[in-house]
Amino acid sequence: MTFIVAIDGPAAGGKGTIARAVASRFGFAYLDTGLLYRAVGRRALAELGPALEGESELVRIASAITEPDIHRDDLRTAAVAQAAGRVATVTGVRDALVTFQRRFAGQQCGAILDGRDIGTVICPDADVKLFITADPEVRAERRFQELAGRGEATDFKTVLGDLIRRDTMDAERDAAPMRPADDAIVIDTSDLSIKEAVATVIAQIEKQ
Ligand code: CDP
Repeated sequence: MTFIVAIDGPAAGGKGTIARAVASRFGFAYLDTGLLYRAVGRRALAELGPALEGESELVRIASAITEPDIHRDDLRTAAVAQAAGRVATVTGVRDALVTFQRRFAGQQCGAILDGRDIGTVICPDADVKLFITADPEVRAERRFQELAGRGEATDFKTVLGDLIRRDTMDAERDAAPMRPADDAIVIDTSDLSIKEAVATVIAQIEKQ
């Protein structure tokens, strides 16, 4: 039997940082499922243009995503994040990415996956389900520092606006909307340091 940890929550809430620390503590494999949607968004922008139109084209692109696509170093831009949010509303795109995620979750060493629908749709039987959140201003400040640190020209107000728009789209879409699973533990990291947030999550996993 493998052990699965599902982490969901809004943009820039600290899921990735926490998931990486937990993976290294327990020896789990880690998948940032947002990279799958970012990979589809990037390709769709390149192949279809900024309108991202054509459902069958989007599904074709999603069906062709493989491991190397999520290891590219150009997936973390603001433009790709917004494109990811838009392609993620398409049911056929989401369906095309399910097998990849479930196969990853089935690894013998145990797995931790983060995203928006891991506890609700991808791994509803996960051993531990967490929903990591923080105030929008706190999340936007983290994302602003991250983008600025990588040299992307942006400002706090734009980052906050983009983040709120994407969260609203993620929470209100019909296809696998972002929400805590009924049995998820909700953790607000607004007033926690990274160290405290990681310790809180590790304590929850050790309880199992
Ligand atoms: O890094 P950040 O938290 O900003 O976003 P991400 O995890 O890279 O996800 C980018 C976008 O992909 C999200 O805004 C969602 O629209 C979509 N996504 C999703 O729908 N389901 C997932 N399991 C993961 C991401």
